[in-house]
Amino acid sequence: MVGRAEPDELRGAGSDSPLIHRSPLSTSGEPLSTSDESADVSGKPLAASSKPLGTPDKSANASSKPLAASSKPLGTCDKSTGASGKPLGRPGKPPGASGKPLGSITRGTTGINRLRRSDRWLIHDELVRGRVREAADPLVVDLGYGASPVTTLELAARLRRVRPDVRVVGLEIDPERVVPGRDGVRFARGGFELAGLRPVLVRAFNVLRQYPEEAVTSAWATVLDGLAPGGLLLEGTCDELGRRCAWVLLDRSGPLSLTLAWDPFTVDRPSDVAERLPKALIHRNVPGEPIHTLLTAADRAWAHAAPLAPYGPRARWRRTAEILRDNGFPVRPYRRRMRDCVLSIPWDIVAPVKP
Ligand SMILES: C[S@@+](CC[C@H](N)C(=O)[O-])C[C@H]1O[C@@H](n2cnc3c(N)ncnc32)[C@H](O)[C@@H]1O
Repeated sequence: MVGRAEPDELRGAGSDSPLIHRSPLSTSGEPLSTSDESADVSGKPLAASSKPLGTPDKSANASSKPLAASSKPLGTCDKSTGASGKPLGRPGKPPGASGKPLGSITRGTTGINRLRRSDRWLIHDELVRGRVREAADPLVVDLGYGASPVTTLELAARLRRVRPDVRVVGLEIDPERVVPGRDGVRFARGGFELAGLRPVLVRAFNVLRQYPEEAVTSAWATVLDGLAPGGLLLEGTCDELGRRCAWVLLDRSGPLSLTLAWDPFTVDRPSDVAERLPKALIHRNVPGEPIHTLLTAADRAWAHAAPLAPYGPRARWRRTAEILRDNGFPVRPYRRRMRDCVLSIPWDIVAPVKP
């Protein structure tokens, strides 16, 4: 299918923008990343230290049971400080059990406008908007921003439309990727423990992708434990150019929903997004697992909606979502005009059946 650029993509060089492995935004003119870009994304842990990431918390699960407050250490790194060298955390509360950021340094690949689809969704989602607007302290953390802070700056700019006084902090576990603050955004060293911050919203995109599946529940639990009351976590994955995206929205009780969003003009069928499912689901797209049932049904509905193809992929997707709802899948309806094809569904519908 021939690609057609969207306004955002044209404006921000989104879909065809080069990937950033080494940042063009370094204020010092030096590359920000010294990560091993040859590291793989096969699901093997990429801990720079080769230390294990820790034991997943078996008391928590990926099927909507409460996840918070278990926060076992996931790994070890160095001290947690801001770009200024000052610790960011709450007084008297060390970042992890060892006082070190929790997690492991992984590849820092990112790109200009790569996360535009999840940003668009975030700033329109009623739950997210409400929580950010009502927060006593409108603090948002972008966890694991990578070799360049560009997606953090973009997130901040978009969130200011929801709440002009939002404070955004980019946390990165690799100290060499921590850059001086700019455009009202701070950057600091931190891991899943959030450097002791208490944000109302955490966005972690393409972070868990390079961890083993077993690390997911523990990482979720640690982040959820650090949220402010009513706080939310958006944990997701996308392809290099941000055309195929998937994310889970969680609160302290556990996962709430799964959302898939894709470029209407470069994705042939809904199941094409399967390759970018969040870590909790990517290995579950097999017969017998709910996510496989959903994607199979979505492809079937997409085929049934083929007569609408002449009206464009968005019209065809709207019909597809109706067919899915008619078949018992509680796909969320959207009244506003959508630039992306979006499939959002309660987590219970897709939660893995096997431990
Ligand atoms: C692939 S980059 C993603 C960059 C950006 N979020 C994006 O999606 O374009 C993943 C980054 O997450 C960082 N990271 C991995 N584990 C982390 C953790 N526990 N806490 C903070 N950062 C982490 C890695 O060092 C890496 O820079």
